[in-house]
Amino acid sequence: MSSAHARPTVARMSGYTPGEQPKPGERVIKLNTNENPYPPSPRVFEAIGRIGADALRRYPQPLADDFRAVAARVHGVLPDQVIAGNGSDDILQIALRTYCGPGDVLASPDPTYSLYPVLAELADVRFVTVPWAPGWTLPADALLAQQPKGIFFANPNAPSGTWVAPRDVAALASRTDALVLVDEAYADFAGESCLPLVADHPNVLISRTLSKGYGLAGLRFGYAIGQPAIIEQMMKVKDSYNCDAIAIAAACAALDDQAYAHEQWARVRDERERVTRALAERGFDVIPSRANFVLATLPGGRPAKVVYEGMKARGVLVRFFDKPGLNDKLRITIGTPDENAAMLAALDASL
Ligand SMILES: Cc1ncc(COP(=O)(O)O)c(C=O)c1O
Repeated sequence: MSSAHARPTVARMSGYTPGEQPKPGERVIKLNTNENPYPPSPRVFEAIGRIGADALRRYPQPLADDFRAVAARVHGVLPDQVIAGNGSDDILQIALRTYCGPGDVLASPDPTYSLYPVLAELADVRFVTVPWAPGWTLPADALLAQQPKGIFFANPNAPSGTWVAPRDVAALASRTDALVLVDEAYADFAGESCLPLVADHPNVLISRTLSKGYGLAGLRFGYAIGQPAIIEQMMKVKDSYNCDAIAIAAACAALDDQAYAHEQWARVRDERERVTRALAERGFDVIPSRANFVLATLPGGRPAKVVYEGMKARGVLVRFFDKPGLNDKLRITIGTPDENAAMLAALDASL
């Protein structure tokens, strides 16, 4: 079948471009997709080891009830305030399809996570961006002027790493009936969250992932927390068995081991401050980050692409965005102390 048979929207679009993956067997220091440099909790491996034949032979829990119970306990909410997904990308897709239909507007500050426009396009939803307000604050008036059905943004934001104060999110949510989705993929590294807003704001949904803070990007597990009425609607939209039995068991074990997770977050935060200082010493302008990556502008207006390519040739992958406003910057994931030292050496050699 040719592209002429595909839905026109699909035939026209180019789709999401995931971060570069090393080729099988290739040894690189991979600091381009904001993965956690540390392994998941040992309890995750124990839980996977306990998976028996029946758990695989049968369908998994449709609503991932075991995980909802753990998440409810950890976050101090009710199980019916939690929905689980096959990565938080799945959650974003479900939320969008629940609240936005063809012709509706999804609004986001720009730049933000580059999957949102792809999901919107796929659903024939109009994606509208407005620039962040000065100091990377929420451009609330401009967002609301778009009369959106949904407002999505990442907090901490990607790729800037900047943080919007919960009181500003609350102020925005109070002024609209639109779904305000706060994508907290990186909130574990921020030490703060907009989760408490859910209690008073029926239109706020917080999305979370185990890909970053829990070192489980390969597992594909995300979740969202909102008032039960939002979750109830989203449950109708998700695939019937969107999380598999192994993922549910592993995710329960990971989220349950908060002590282990907090230790890794602290290590990443310490390294983030060290990398930020090291880049600043080299003349980079580094936006203070609350995430597990930094966005750094090259000194002297140098094009970032050449430096990115130089680092890649030296076995270090970082992220370069060939987009106006970002093409003078590199986004660098925080690695282990050794990885960060190698990254800085490759950077020095490439400058
Ligand atoms: C802001 C943001 N949200 C969501 C995701 C996707 O996370 P997941 O692996 O849970 O699908 C990413 C991944 O890079 C991200 O940067």
